[in-house]
Amino acid sequence: PINDHVRIVEVGPRDGLQNEKQTIPLDTKIELVERLARTGLQTIEAGSFVSPKWTPQMANSSEILNHVLNHPPPSALPVTYQFLLPNEKGLDNFLDVYSAHALHEVKSSSSSSQAPNTEPSGPTGSSTSPPTIELSIFTAATETFTQKNTNCSIAESLQRFTPLIARARSHNLRVRAYISVALGCPYEGPDVDPHAVAALAVNLLEMGADTISIADTTGMGTAPRTRELLKTLAAAGVDMGDLALHFHDTYGQALVNAVVGLEAGVREFDAAVAGLGGCPFSPGATGNVATEDVVRLFESLGLRTGVDMEELASAGEWVSRELGRANESRAGKATLAR
Ligand code: HMG
Ligand code: MG
Repeated sequence: PINDHVRIVEVGPRDGLQNEKQTIPLDTKIELVERLARTGLQTIEAGSFVSPKWTPQMANSSEILNHVLNHPPPSALPVTYQFLLPNEKGLDNFLDVYSAHALHEVKSSSSSSQAPNTEPSGPTGSSTSPPTIELSIFTAATETFTQKNTNCSIAESLQRFTPLIARARSHNLRVRAYISVALGCPYEGPDVDPHAVAALAVNLLEMGADTISIADTTGMGTAPRTRELLKTLAAAGVDMGDLALHFHDTYGQALVNAVVGLEAGVREFDAAVAGLGGCPFSPGATGNVATEDVVRLFESLGLRTGVDMEELASAGEWVSRELGRANESRAGKATLAR
């Protein structure tokens, strides 16, 4: 029987904001994260530990991590926050905040039934305890994009991940790995080899990644090519339950591609509220598929998202105004106009 629950990974606070030119105040970022957490979204990518020279907008992600660790999720439901990082330097900066908090938790929770642990363990999510934290790492399906985005080859990016994943595991942190430009590259064109994507996915899973997010960074993906890519992944032995799909709506194909993914058995999808985003290293690419649109689609198909559409649409309209940009979600705008 088809599982009727889909997991939406809200990437607005990270993927959606990282490309904004004007510096967004920390308070606005934190308010966005909190508003999103109140909608019933289970997973929110809240920031990234990348080089501030490369992506200045994400420079205060330590403070966002610190905030979410010190404030229980604003909803009664458990929330997972993800943080993106490219290398061990990013992990060091992440752990400076995370480990300090975890050690403090261990010391202060004398009533805890858990056995004391030499390594700080990941906090478990509930409305009364800190949220669950997960990490995400990223490489890409083409050499040119990998160089432009992370200043290294694909092979070098994998070498960076080996120690990174091992250290994440020692802290009981789940790791998801993005494969960018999987359905089209701004430098190498639309014909990205699906076998190369599948080989990379297999490699990342064998290295210990928990989930692979297949990203159509440019929005060049079409329904037939999405279907072909998912078939190629399955033929390479990748379980659809280990995949997420990350669509951009540049050419208006994101929702149809999502349906292709659903039909193939994928149950995890990335989206950004109000369709925020646009990759700094992918010229011309527009935003991520809007979370409101994805929620509307999934609910119309009888799938459960757990998201309150009114709350989500309000959050989308609020952040669009804060950023002075158009709300790119059709479903969000229509919901508010009712
Ligand atoms: P590099 O310049 O080659 O780094 O950048 P390096 O190792 O040579 O180090 C140079 C300096 O940067 C050193 O400092 C390092 O300490 C520092 P210095 O000695 O000169 O003072 N440094 C760092 N500082 C903070 N955090 C770090 C870090 N690493 C090194 N993590 C690097 C290589 C990978 C760091 C850089 O290219 C980078 O940060 N790239 C990330 C770019 C980015 O943010 N891209 C967007 C995210 S991916 C994406 O959006 C696609 C996705 O959403 C999917 C989709 O939408 O389709 C996932
Ligand atoms: Mg994206």
